[in-house]
This record gives sequence, structure tokens and C-alpha cells, in this order.
Amino acid sequence: MADNIEDPTPTGNVWPMAGEQTDELVRAAFPLRLGLAEGKVALVTGAGRGIGEATARLFAVEGAAVVVCDIDGDAAQAVVRSIQERGGEAFAVAADLTKEDDVAAVINSAIDNYGRLDCAVNNAGVSGRFGSFIDLPLHEWQHMINANLTSVFLCLKYELGVMAAQGFGAIVNVSSGAGVVAAPGLPHYTAAKHGVLGLTKCAAQEFAAKGVRVNAILPGTTRTPMIEGFINGDPKIEKMVSRGIGRGYLGEPSEIAESAVWLCSDRASFVCGESLLVDGATVCR
Ligand SMILES: NC(=O)c1ccc[n+]([C@@H]2O[C@H](COP(=O)([O-])OP(=O)(O)OC[C@H]3O[C@@H](n4cnc5c(N)ncnc54)[C@H](O)[C@@H]3O)[C@@H](O)[C@H]2O)c1
Repeated sequence: MADNIEDPTPTGNVWPMAGEQTDELVRAAFPLRLGLAEGKVALVTGAGRGIGEATARLFAVEGAAVVVCDIDGDAAQAVVRSIQERGGEAFAVAADLTKEDDVAAVINSAIDNYGRLDCAVNNAGVSGRFGSFIDLPLHEWQHMINANLTSVFLCLKYELGVMAAQGFGAIVNVSSGAGVVAAPGLPHYTAAKHGVLGLTKCAAQEFAAKGVRVNAILPGTTRTPMIEGFINGDPKIEKMVSRGIGRGYLGEPSEIAESAVWLCSDRASFVCGESLLVDGATVCR
């Protein structure tokens, strides 16, 4: 930085640089609690770990009561305990979001506990096996579409019903860079994530005038159990993956969470139908 330009940050440049990225560093860059979700009720799906867990934690820090939903009930409970230990408000609900009865029960439990639903982040999803179109078995296609697209449709169906009746609400669907470009070898994942953006646009158009905003985020490669399974602790694979990311490092779950919580906040009141890349410059051209 040139001598005559004042560093805008009070403690010097705390922005993480490529290669020194950690979750703590990212949080250190955002030391203030902004109250973005003060008094709100927020549902996060797939919140037992990864991006969903970070989003649930950030909602709690920002003042929301959080419904922590996951197919893995023990993982959801553990996240709730940790939020409560830090003075936050949360409860866990186990559900398989590919099943309509489970989705209806999740929304009902949010209403039973807190009386309304202000925000929802439809994040739950799965990854798949790499391969060619011609080797992709129909059951793997169907599993992917159910877990990554039908689950989002079902969540939207019930969330929109409640929010339209209230006359307010904000929803964020979690797509992927694979929602706008091909993920070679993952046609089922690519199709599902493109579909999430289609659902987002349809819902945004239909419900904007009813007080409900619907947006999507498109995370880039993020350090979660989903990706750690692929990297398998091998620094060479991590380096190879990082080379495709403009910022030069894997995203942290908390960096993705920031965008989801902001989009759900009243600060984003005129943002509706948007698909927001949060990928450190990966797919932009
Ligand atoms: N990690 C990345 O690099 C990355 C990149 C782009 C998009 N995404 C998307 O972000 C979302 C979260 O990814 P992540 O990396 O945190 O994944 P993750 O595998 O670490 O966590 C996903 C969570 O979703 C839950 N889940 C899966 N299927 C479910 C179901 N049917 N019902 C309820 N819960 C279910 C899992 O139990 C798990 O806790 C996914 O939609 C994923 O496609 C991730």
C-alpha cells in the first residue's frame, strides 16, 4: 500500500491472502456483529455440517432463532448444542428433504416453536460420482435429482406457502458454479444445480409482489466435508483445485454463509431473483 493512502481497516490489512486462509482469519476480517437477522426465525437445511452449519451459526450470531435441519439428526443436535452454549437460540429437526411429509413436518415444527418463518436457506445437497453420460446409471441420476432439486422444490413449496400467508419472508437456494457452467463428468449434478436456478427465478417472479424475496447463491469450491472427501488430505490435489480459483484458495464455509445471511436480511430488500456467484472468481469470463 502506498504511504499516502490510509489503510481503511483499523488494525491494518486483515484480509486473508492466498495460502494463509483459515476460517478464523475470515471471521477476524468481520469482527462486528451487525444484527442482520435480529429477531428473525431462520431455517437452514443441511445444517449438520459444512456450508449449512456455518450459515446456521452465523444466523444465530446475527440474532436469529435458528431451525437446524439435517437428515443426520445427531449432527443437527450437535450444532444446536454449540449454538446454545454460545448463548444463541436454536432447535434441531431431523428430516429427509426428498420426502414431502418430512418437509411439511419441518415447516410445521418451525411454526409450532416460533410462530412464523422469516428466512430459509435451502442448502442440503449431495455430490456424485464422476463419469461419462453413457456410464451414468438411472438410479444415480434419480438420486441426484431427488437430493439436489426435488428437495429444493419441496422446501420452496412449503416455505412459500407460509411466507406468502404472512406477507413477508426471504429465501436463499444454494446452487453452485455448476448451476451456470458444466461440471464435466457430473451431468446429474450440473442439471440439478441449473434446475435450482430455474426454480429460484420462477418463485421470485410469482412471490415478489406477495412480500417474499427468493434468491440463489452459487458457491465455488468450499472447504467442507463434501470437498474434503474429494481432496482426501492430499496437498497436491488441493493445489490443483486451488489453481482454478481466482483468489487462489478454497472458500471457507463462513464466507459462503455471509452471502446467504445478507441476502436473507432486510439490507437486501430490493434483491430478488438474483443468482450470486460466491466463488472467488472461478466461473466468471
Ligand atoms: N462444498 C462445495 O465446494 C460446494 C460448491 C458448490 C455448491 N455446494 C453446495 O452447497 C450445499 C452444501 O454443501 P456442503 O459442501 O456443505 O456439503 P456437505 O456434504 O458437507 O453437507 C451437506 C449436508 O446436507 C445434508 N443432507 C444431504 N441430503 C439431505 C437430505 N435429503 N435431507 C436433509 N439433509 C440432507 C447432509 O447430511 C449434510 O449435513 C450443497 O447443496 C452443495 O451442492 C457446495
